[in-house]
Amino acid sequence: ISAAALNAAHHLTVGGVDTLALAKQYQTPLYVYDTGAIRAEIAAFKQVFETNRVKYQISYASKAFATVAMYQLIAQEGIHCDVVSGGELYTAQQAGFPMERVSFHGNNKSVAELSMALDAGVGCIIVDNFYELNLLTQLTTERQQMTTVMLRIAPGISAHTHDYISTGQEDSKFGFDLNSGQADEAVKRALGAPYLDLVGIHCHIGSQIFELNGFEMIVDKLVGVFARWQTELGFYPQIMNVGGGFGVKYTAEDQPLEPTAFVDAILKETIAQTQAHHVPMLEVWIEPGRSLVATAGMTLYTLGASKDIPGIRKYLAVDGGMGDNIRPALYEAKYEAVLAKDPTLPAKQVVSIAGKYCESGDMLIWNQQLPATQPGDVLAVLDTGAYGYSMASNYNRNPRPAVVFCENGQSQLVVQRESYADLTRLDLPLAVPEKTE
Ligand code: LLP
Repeated sequence: ISAAALNAAHHLTVGGVDTLALAKQYQTPLYVYDTGAIRAEIAAFKQVFETNRVKYQISYASKAFATVAMYQLIAQEGIHCDVVSGGELYTAQQAGFPMERVSFHGNNKSVAELSMALDAGVGCIIVDNFYELNLLTQLTTERQQMTTVMLRIAPGISAHTHDYISTGQEDSKFGFDLNSGQADEAVKRALGAPYLDLVGIHCHIGSQIFELNGFEMIVDKLVGVFARWQTELGFYPQIMNVGGGFGVKYTAEDQPLEPTAFVDAILKETIAQTQAHHVPMLEVWIEPGRSLVATAGMTLYTLGASKDIPGIRKYLAVDGGMGDNIRPALYEAKYEAVLAKDPTLPAKQVVSIAGKYCESGDMLIWNQQLPATQPGDVLAVLDTGAYGYSMASNYNRNPRPAVVFCENGQSQLVVQRESYADLTRLDLPLAVPEKTE
């Protein structure tokens, strides 16, 4: 917590707005975002590309946090976004997001989703496998509609030596395998398809990555392959899309580089490798999700019940939990919390923050120091902006929280809190069977 995030009363603020006032106005649990911080992160990414004088595109991986207002914010900042489902595409459409700036991802896009993307005129479809390549060739030929595509490649960088790389390895459900020649075959077929314009190659090696060297390895590998394709297939991509995955700091234990340091390393390596292989410089695309939104968001909860097991542990329960943040239960993800009324108060107890869901695994934080607390206090769990709201559920039939954007001292509701009526809106009553004689 920086000093700037506290007001004169020592209350925690977000985007210049008092979090206690937010909790009062919008109730808890509540997702709050400092949208100025999101804009600043985008600007920082742009700056690295500009400094290195490299042609680029930043495509926000909207799976990290997608709402109508978020797509509108991304549109305002002039960057692209990627969607991975008909639902994300629909939300972007509802937001009026310019479709030519949308890339469509996914390892099993349906015919309905591909048709929806073609109807919408998305800027690029990232083709993941031969099944999709065939479908898209067929659809675009029937419709006589040109479509820009990239092929997603699994670069086959061994997960044994670099276990932080979780999606780029050979044994992955995503992408055309490079080592076995599937990627070469896919390039040939895409080039032969009458209505596909193959502009680039995509790969994504994982998420919450802390080291540069995985990114440098994929750049080396890809540029080498591109040079070979130029000779063997007469194909040289314009665009190299290196995906996202730039790690962020969740707790004091995390010591990540600045997200922009990854991009800087990627660009320098791309310049060096293209020169070494005597091939034209590439346009570089990145797909940051987490690094744009994680630290810009926090979740406000109200403290309720507590349980002190002498000599063992003290549990403090909040009014939310795994329904609004599944990451601790799913990935053992770590977070830190502060008391909104004054994050600078001295620590008085070690507590574990429990949710209200009916599972022992519904714990948000284990063993963290806090000042003295009482029921009704507002607790802010920090850095929940990525994959919190977007992975939220109605488990135990709890309504999902509202989302508020804050900037320059102003707050704005961008997703309403679900009501109980919303929970049963799609339910239908049990049919009464017709009487049979
Ligand atoms: N591009 C592609 C093709 C991806 O699959 C992903 C994330 C991204 C970009 C963005 O990665 P990021 O910059 O956010 O790390 N639910 C998990 C994260 C899953 C990431 C899936 N793909 C979590 O909560 O940690």
